[in-house]
Amino acid sequence: MSATGREVILGVGAGIAAYKSADLVRRLQDRGYHVRVVPTPASLNFVGASTWEALTGRPVRTQVWEDVHEGAHISLAHDSDFFLIAPATADLIARIATGRADDLLTNLVLASDAPKMVIPAMHSHMWNDPATKANVETLRSRGFVVLEPDTGRLAGNDSGPGRFPETNRIIEEFDSMTGHKRDLVGRRVLVTAGGTREAIDPVRYIGNRSSGKQGLALARAAAMRGADVHLIAANMDTSAIHGITVSNVESALDMREVLKDQFASCDVLIMCAAVADARPTQKLNEKIKKASFTSIELETNPDLLAEISTTKTNQVIIGFAAETSDHIESARSKMQAKGLDVIYVNDVSGGAIFGKDVTHGTILLRNGEDIALKEVSKDALAEILLDHAIRQLG
Ligand code: C5P
Repeated sequence: MSATGREVILGVGAGIAAYKSADLVRRLQDRGYHVRVVPTPASLNFVGASTWEALTGRPVRTQVWEDVHEGAHISLAHDSDFFLIAPATADLIARIATGRADDLLTNLVLASDAPKMVIPAMHSHMWNDPATKANVETLRSRGFVVLEPDTGRLAGNDSGPGRFPETNRIIEEFDSMTGHKRDLVGRRVLVTAGGTREAIDPVRYIGNRSSGKQGLALARAAAMRGADVHLIAANMDTSAIHGITVSNVESALDMREVLKDQFASCDVLIMCAAVADARPTQKLNEKIKKASFTSIELETNPDLLAEISTTKTNQVIIGFAAETSDHIESARSKMQAKGLDVIYVNDVSGGAIFGKDVTHGTILLRNGEDIALKEVSKDALAEILLDHAIRQLG
């Protein structure tokens, strides 16, 4: 089990339908899954390792003999939450059914106890062959979900059962296997993330330690639950984000513009970004010389959250706070002052949370309830906060 609960191993067998699994990778990523592709060696004849590496941003291995010191067949199996094998050829199904472990993929299948779904694709004669039928029965009796292939055009001019199913059907079946909630379908979720930068001159800025990880976890979790997500990202790497609308901004004033534009049409605003409280009064076009760089005159930034919440209609608004002392009292007064439905207060004494995958703090609700969270992953916190947003949406 991974820290996120969303690690998927996509096993790719040596069928021509392998190229269709490239789309599957993207669709899984759109839903917030972290995908690792493990092709069989023969499947590389159809789609090469570079395609999978470029799509997933992760290295591709096919054998247990690569990077032996890492014990990949055990560590990857241990870290996987779900297995999707698509396409599964007659040979791959036979190897899995007989418990073979002659490449990395079949080793992982044996070593992992994650739920597994198999998407067969082969010629009708091979699909209908008693040997394949028996192997499929064996897999089903061991708890594998084996999809019935579609009937239609096959490789060459033949037609019949054995066709690789449409991506939508695979995704639907995968969702029902994973049991992940789809309770934000039709909702618009606006998330701010990262930390704003306030330019001093063309080189220097005032910034903060926010990494954007929590905001990204929220955006991904909302997308995975079916929401139409818009992420306003302040100074963070957004290159690996798919299926989410992203506006990249630098300063608090830039963020304010996008927020004003998007707020009216959203159902939930999650203001996770660390917005600089002040900006240099003068934005210079020339770099300040070292000798005269002795002080910076500042002016206060608008409080974006306090400002936008005055225009609230039916939106649920979630804010964040980072405190080093008097967490609860400060967060309660921020909740009032900024018109929030929920606030999460991080205890950042010692800078313990910035850039990490785990957090600890307290969720405060408008009804006066406090929920203390000890050491949870940022992904888990995202799910909990979305649960509260949904409850408030009714
Ligand atoms: O007042 P404080 O900065 O602790 O409040 C944090 C919350 O307010 C966060 O949700 C942050 O995104 C938001 N904020 C804002 N505009 C500011 C400062 C903070 O919207 N200028």
